[in-house]
Amino acid sequence: MQNTTTVPFRRLPSLRLKTLALLGALVLPAAAPAAPGGEGEMREPAEVYRQVCSHCHAPDKAVGPEITMAFPEAAHEARGNYIRMTVRNGRAAMPSLRQAKVSDPELEALIQALVRGDLAAGAVNEE
Ligand code: HEC
Repeated sequence: MQNTTTVPFRRLPSLRLKTLALLGALVLPAAAPAAPGGEGEMREPAEVYRQVCSHCHAPDKAVGPEITMAFPEAAHEARGNYIRMTVRNGRAAMPSLRQAKVSDPELEALIQALVRGDLAAGAVNEE
């Protein structure tokens, strides 16, 4: 048996409804999480790799090739350009990834970590 008192919708003062709607409109956008890479929201390279790349590139997934091996310093720039181009333009089965997925500063930091081998198996926490 239900024993709740229901107030018919039409009897709510319309002013209150408008105020609530207005408050909602003001509060909701502020409460929405900032876009990845928004000011002060930059993720660590390992986090970006884990969230955006590893579900294809981790050795146990083997959808994409391994990309975490270190490169000799003389090749860092060329390899970095290649990674940047691959991520932004896509390559064969790899989709292009836009700013909304990986911001420019996040991508630059990720590239540095990748070419140095910071994210290679054994260099990071393996779960
Ligand atoms: C949806 C799966 C998928 C995601 C997500 C993905 N990749 Fe790829 N990636 C691939 C596949 C598949 C290839 C191989 C493409 C080919 O056939 O040349 C590839 C190739 C690459 C290559 C070229 C490798 C080489 O040595 O030639 C790089 C670099 C790369 N990906 C970087 C990244 C980075 C960095 C991220 C995350 C920011 C990422 N990928 C996310 C699927 C993915």
